[in-house]
Amino acid sequence: MSHEVVEKNVGLMAILVLLVISVGGLVEIVPLFFLKSTTEPVEGLEPYTPLQLEGRDIYVREGCYVCHSQMIRPFRAETERYGHYSVAGEFVYDRPFQWGSKRTGPDLARVGGRYSDDWHRVHLINPRDVVPESNMPGFPWLEENVLDGAHTARKMEVLRTLGTPYTDEQIAGAEAAVKGRTEMEALIAYLQNLGTALKTRR
Ligand code: HEC
Repeated sequence: MSHEVVEKNVGLMAILVLLVISVGGLVEIVPLFFLKSTTEPVEGLEPYTPLQLEGRDIYVREGCYVCHSQMIRPFRAETERYGHYSVAGEFVYDRPFQWGSKRTGPDLARVGGRYSDDWHRVHLINPRDVVPESNMPGFPWLEENVLDGAHTARKMEVLRTLGTPYTDEQIAGAEAAVKGRTEMEALIAYLQNLGTALKTRR
């Protein structure tokens, strides 16, 4: 096929362009599905506990991801501020992942252990009590809403069908593990666990 044919026929050119992009994309993406470093959990990564799992759902419900990313890029400016860059194996139990790209607030991928539970409590009720210049909204209702755990076991069962290795005992004990705890406790349990599996110096 001579170039002239392609250059004079926009429709054909569009189809060929699509074909080239598709093949190129597949060649880049498909190998990642079979690479251990992108599909296996990093050493020490545990599935979310029932309380952390509920906390994660609250994080999604409240839209924390609208202002916070959870992915540290491998650039010096980021690793100096947030710690080791994120690796794929840290997110294998995240469904859906919370990587995001909007950073009105700081990245939270390794916020676990950086502050005390009390700091988070005060900060989430009214951020300005600890960071005067903060424009993060307060979430005071988390302190009042109490979890009943009615769906926690079911959520874990569904995650298990997708590959999260929950045991029968963990699922059987899920409701008791969260019932009566506040949404605030659950969200903080989730935050305190973020990024802690990868053991590195900060
Ligand atoms: C409108 C944007 C916005 C939303 C929504 C938001 N935040 Fe923030 N967040 C910020 C900003 C800005 C900061 C930096 C100032 C501060 O510390 O309050 C921050 C800081 C934080 C910090 C401290 C991080 C650090 O390394 O110092 C945590 C933890 C946090 N937010 C958690 C949350 C959680 C959990 C939610 C959802 C319940 C949430 N944020 C929702 C904007 C937001």
